Amino acid sequence: MKLLVLLGAFVAQCLAVTVTVNKNPSHTVPSTLYGLMFEDINSGDGGLYAELLQNRAFQQVTPNTAAALNAWHPISNAGLTVVKDSTPVSAALPNSLQFTVPSGSSGRVGFTNEGFWGIKVDSASTYKASLFFRFPTSTSFSGALTVGLQTNAGKILAQNSTQIRGTTTKWTQVNLDLHPTASASDVSNSFFVTIDGAAGAGQTINFAMFSLFPPTFKNRPNGIRADLAETLTEMGPSFFRFPGGNNLGQTTATRWQWNATVGSLLDRPGRVGDWGYVNTDGLGLLEYLEFFEDTGMEPIMAVWAGEYSVRDGSTQGRSLILIPHTGYALGGTSVAESALPPYIQQAADQINFVIGDPAKSSAAALRASLGHPEPFALRFVEVGNEDFIGSAPSTYPYRWHDFVSSLQAEFPSIRFIATSNAWNPVLSPVPQSYDVHVYQTPTWFYQNAFYYDGFQRNGTTYFEGEYAAISTNPNDLFGSVADGRLAFPTVQSASGEAAFMTGLERNSDIVFAASYAPLLQHINSTQWTPDLVSYDAGSVIKSTSFYAQKLFATNKGDQYLPSTLPTNGGTLHWSITRSSTSGQTFIKIANAGSTAQSITFSLTQFSTVSSTGTLQVLTGAETASNTPQAPNAVVPQTSTITTGKTFTYNAPAFSVSVITVTTQ
Ligand SMILES: *[C@@H]1O[C@H](CO)[C@@H](O)[C@H](O)[C@H]1NC(C)=O
Ligand SMILES: *[C@@H]1O[C@H](CO)[C@@H](O)[C@H](O)[C@H]1NC(C)=O
Ligand SMILES: *[C@@H]1O[C@H](CO)[C@@H](O)[C@H](O)[C@H]1NC(C)=O
Ligand SMILES: *[C@@H]1O[C@H](CO)[C@@H](O)[C@H](O)[C@H]1NC(C)=O
Repeated sequence: MKLLVLLGAFVAQCLAVTVTVNKNPSHTVPSTLYGLMFEDINSGDGGLYAELLQNRAFQQVTPNTAAALNAWHPISNAGLTVVKDSTPVSAALPNSLQFTVPSGSSGRVGFTNEGFWGIKVDSASTYKASLFFRFPTSTSFSGALTVGLQTNAGKILAQNSTQIRGTTTKWTQVNLDLHPTASASDVSNSFFVTIDGAAGAGQTINFAMFSLFPPTFKNRPNGIRADLAETLTEMGPSFFRFPGGNNLGQTTATRWQWNATVGSLLDRPGRVGDWGYVNTDGLGLLEYLEFFEDTGMEPIMAVWAGEYSVRDGSTQGRSLILIPHTGYALGGTSVAESALPPYIQQAADQINFVIGDPAKSSAAALRASLGHPEPFALRFVEVGNEDFIGSAPSTYPYRWHDFVSSLQAEFPSIRFIATSNAWNPVLSPVPQSYDVHVYQTPTWFYQNAFYYDGFQRNGTTYFEGEYAAISTNPNDLFGSVADGRLAFPTVQSASGEAAFMTGLERNSDIVFAASYAPLLQHINSTQWTPDLVSYDAGSVIKSTSFYAQKLFATNKGDQYLPSTLPTNGGTLHWSITRSSTSGQTFIKIANAGSTAQSITFSLTQFSTVSSTGTLQVLTGAETASNTPQAPNAVVPQTSTITTGKTFTYNAPAFSVSVITVTTQ
């Protein structure tokens, strides 16, 4: 009997984990630890960039094809063709929309733009519409040009007009505000341009560079979509990695070039992006930098590093990546070392545009001429992207060497980040930092929460630049949803990631930054799932992983407090940090397993611990997700919890919890 009681107590002891917290911090938690990884993967145009019109300037399309008219549709019997204009609106925008009004026309004749899978129309907003037009040959026409917003059923929601004349053979810009008289019940709305068919019968008018903006984040002209910006800032990010990612460019000709993304929109040619659609580059280098200033994020900026690689879905150790577009298998070609200097110069110019002295650099002088003489903040530059893939590692040593030795000499304050696998191949100069990527299963994430614990502390730091639990099937990570690929993050995937993130916090003496990827997904045009935030033309859906990121980022603290270690490879993980200024102590608990787990926290080293604390917990069914149909299925719940120097918390199955107590 006595033995049984003892045995029972022993078993209970084993089940209830006790975590002793050390009040002396082991290291500072870097301010940069949590942030955002961004590239245009159906998330810049039609997403973060607030422009509402799709294919607004006929960039990078083939004239006289149906495809060139993407998103544009005739009203009534209008003739519409994208032409290579004999007198283009600008050198960068060679194409225009040629609109013809057949003889015998009457009523409204014109065309619509469907937006990016719809347009949200809100009567509380003023929309800024603009376009350029010219008559290819002078005519005696005089009449109203009307622009507006209508439902796809044809009900007019807003319109505004200006008088135009057929003698206008030079490109002329029209700017009109639109004040909707009613909000639309859904996003099935279009932008329209019309003239009176009877008055205009027989006329031909060329149009170029259309634009339609709703109010933007901080009211910046050519700015950022407000609801997405607010969602991203709600997460508490400290940095923003950009412009890619793969979208840095897969070929020399189509690479992202900073200088093609700044200045007048008329001077931005756009580019064939790397995810199967044209990028307008309306969201250009200056727009990114202004967004960082408006949100307090700091850039982790990439420069193209002379390589376009074969993408495949093969398993390459820890780093797994795939672009689901066979057309991108380009043969894994690198720019020869002797041909690198102009690309290194372009990278230097890109950095100078951000931080250079206008008196010394023409790129910096350009920034000043665009209204920002002061340098922006820039501490981190990434050289290339995923140079661990395919044949990229074989040429990365000379590319890294030539880029970094030159750029480091010119910009001694910048930390350059290598994108090959850490320590293989051997690089010179020795990288100060590496960018590490992983797309894996929820199980992999909790099993690898100790990934960085064994790393040498020798001055090298790590950026966990892309990570996400993307599939429950370890043998078919990049397969279909039916095979385990996640359409949206789940409670299980978020709790697995959170377990991994407790390891990032524990190792934040060497892991200086980490970001889930990809960030954004337009639900009507998706290249990759799952994503942190989903949206359509009218709404935003925050995923379970978004809330896990938010719980970590907004409860970060600046001191890491060592505690009893979790079981390496187990489902239950924790991390304890503290704010040295407020005394708030943040206890994060990730339970990635299917049973609830009790943990007793011992904070007896502190002289005082508040008797109550705040508990925030994200939990739900293993496969539960936030989706367009149920956007708020799983959201964190906040409550008060009894704490003190010793207290026990029962972490629900599949959960991410943060307990905040005040300690002195
Ligand atoms: C966008 O996706 C939603 C959800 O699947 C769907 O209801 C809607 O019809 C789609 N819109 C368009 C324009 O395809
Ligand atoms: C039409 O646009 C002009 C110029 O932007 C603006 O001043 C005016 O208020 C607009 N009218 C209507 C009816 O929205
Ligand atoms: C950008 O600069 C490169 C040289 O670094 C030049 O080849 C290219 O034409 C420029 N592009 C634009 C659009 O100005
Ligand atoms: C740092 O540690 C790694 C192993 O984690 C090792 O391969 C590398 O050579 C070390 N670097 C330096 C600069 O000592």
